[in-house]
Amino acid sequence: MTQQTAETETRQYGDGDCSFQSAGGEAGIKKLVEAFYHKMDTLPEAKTIRDMHPKDLTVSIDKLYRFLCGWLGGPKLFQEKYGSIKLPVAHSKFPIGLKEKHAWLLCMKRALEEQPYKEDFKDYLMEQLNFPATKIQNKE
Ligand code: HEM
Repeated sequence: MTQQTAETETRQYGDGDCSFQSAGGEAGIKKLVEAFYHKMDTLPEAKTIRDMHPKDLTVSIDKLYRFLCGWLGGPKLFQEKYGSIKLPVAHSKFPIGLKEKHAWLLCMKRALEEQPYKEDFKDYLMEQLNFPATKIQNKE
């Protein structure tokens, strides 16, 4: 085993680009986000938040995919294309309470179930996503 491999295996999610790599890099995150929006499109629990989005989800997919690449320690693809972003401000025009937050996280949980990630990474990601989701909540 090379030293680099040993270091990669002992790195913690959240260190450098460890989470980005664990999520399969750009291609893996693209698949996750496509699955996420497919869940939002089909789960009855997500109807309210689906209706907040445009009919065509292409741009929503591109934005979340690019955002998550940077947020997970990879390249800052969102800023490159769309400029800087503050999540609570970007969501302030949508009424987002506990129910909407839970619906968003449910879509992510179901999408993660379909990804070839390690189980402990899926758990880690759900825990971490709870932080921005809570900051975005703006009612109740
Ligand atoms: C808490 C529940 C959430 C709801 C209901 C929600 C809903 C929405 C909606 C309706 C849009 C607009 C889509 C569009 O115009 O294409 C949006 C945009 C976005 N959301 Fe969320 N979101 C939530 C949580 C999150 C979280 C946790 C993240 C990041 C980890 C996130 C990242 C983004 C990004 C990057 C955009 C694009 C913003 C922009 O247009 O500049 N959202 N979201």
